[in-house]
Amino acid sequence: MIDYKNSGSIGWESPSNIALIKYWGKKGNQLPCNPSISMSLKNSLTRTVLSYEPKGNGDQLSFLFEGKRQVSFEQRITKFLGNLSDHFKFLTDYQLSVSSENTFPHSTGIASSASAMSSLALCLCSMEEEISGVKMAEDEFYRKAGFIARLGSGSASRSVYGGFVAWGESNSFSKSSDEYAVPFSKYTHPVFLDFQDAILLVSSKKKEVSSSAGHQLMENHPYASARFAQANKHFERMLGVLRSGDLEEFIEIMENEALSLHGLMMNSTPSFTLLKPNTLELIERIRSYRLSSNVPVGFTLDAGPNIHLLYPKSEKERVVPFIDSELSQFLENGKYIVDEKGEGPQKIKM
Ligand code: DP6
Repeated sequence: MIDYKNSGSIGWESPSNIALIKYWGKKGNQLPCNPSISMSLKNSLTRTVLSYEPKGNGDQLSFLFEGKRQVSFEQRITKFLGNLSDHFKFLTDYQLSVSSENTFPHSTGIASSASAMSSLALCLCSMEEEISGVKMAEDEFYRKAGFIARLGSGSASRSVYGGFVAWGESNSFSKSSDEYAVPFSKYTHPVFLDFQDAILLVSSKKKEVSSSAGHQLMENHPYASARFAQANKHFERMLGVLRSGDLEEFIEIMENEALSLHGLMMNSTPSFTLLKPNTLELIERIRSYRLSSNVPVGFTLDAGPNIHLLYPKSEKERVVPFIDSELSQFLENGKYIVDEKGEGPQKIKM
């Protein structure tokens, strides 16, 4: 029997992700200028609950973030939902209450738009299934969720899957698409299976440049075409590395990507220097520790000063004492967040 529903509640928790090859520059309707690849996290999640009922006279959306009304998020989500009528025809007939919370603090170098928009997109796809009574095939469901998440925030498209996830067309990955993300995990070398990410908090101040404003900086950037060519090459090499397990090359590409991103921001007009003196101190210490110890540990950065320190779990017993003894003195209140590669979003049992 088909189960048509008029009202209900759906919940999804979805991870943030850290990009190894960066998406920086977009075109058209939220399409990337180059392919990117990320690792989905395990502990840094957004939990979103979406309740729906037939539309009455009230507002279409009420939105609570961590129990409180947040007007700026509400406006962003209202705009996002307003653009989805071609993909979810039913949406305008319903009134939605969305409530979400993060398992991680704000402004920590953890991309909250990725986890937030992906969890909301997953809720909307589940709502479509409930209302229509038609279940999508599993791969179709996640592809649509990634497509919808992308319209909310590009990097969110990668968060609908666990492990390593690619987004953006590339000749070196035949399944890749600009429209949605594709999981890469099933091809990865065992050394990456339990990869760790320690997020080192240099500063928890609000970002100086929003991602959207950052992407715009690439529109007239003098190095734009060289950057997109570099990202394509890095993407292709990174896919090879994820298969081969060559950690030296992995670290070389990952660090080059992080510093290229910041280099592009520094010589943009206007220019942004988001690296702090302590970020540079940490980078030097990580590099010299790697040289002297031979421990394969490397860093990457988002559009902010905080460092993501990536390494295989087998090195945890050496890396954690290194963070505690050498790096924590340069961190805000000595703090860092322990995370690792995760398995992707989970539907919450309601
Ligand atoms: C530096 O996905 O946050 O983290 O599409 O405008 O929401 P919007 O941008 P967003 O950009 C992420 C930029 C980055 C690199 C990356 O995650 O690939």
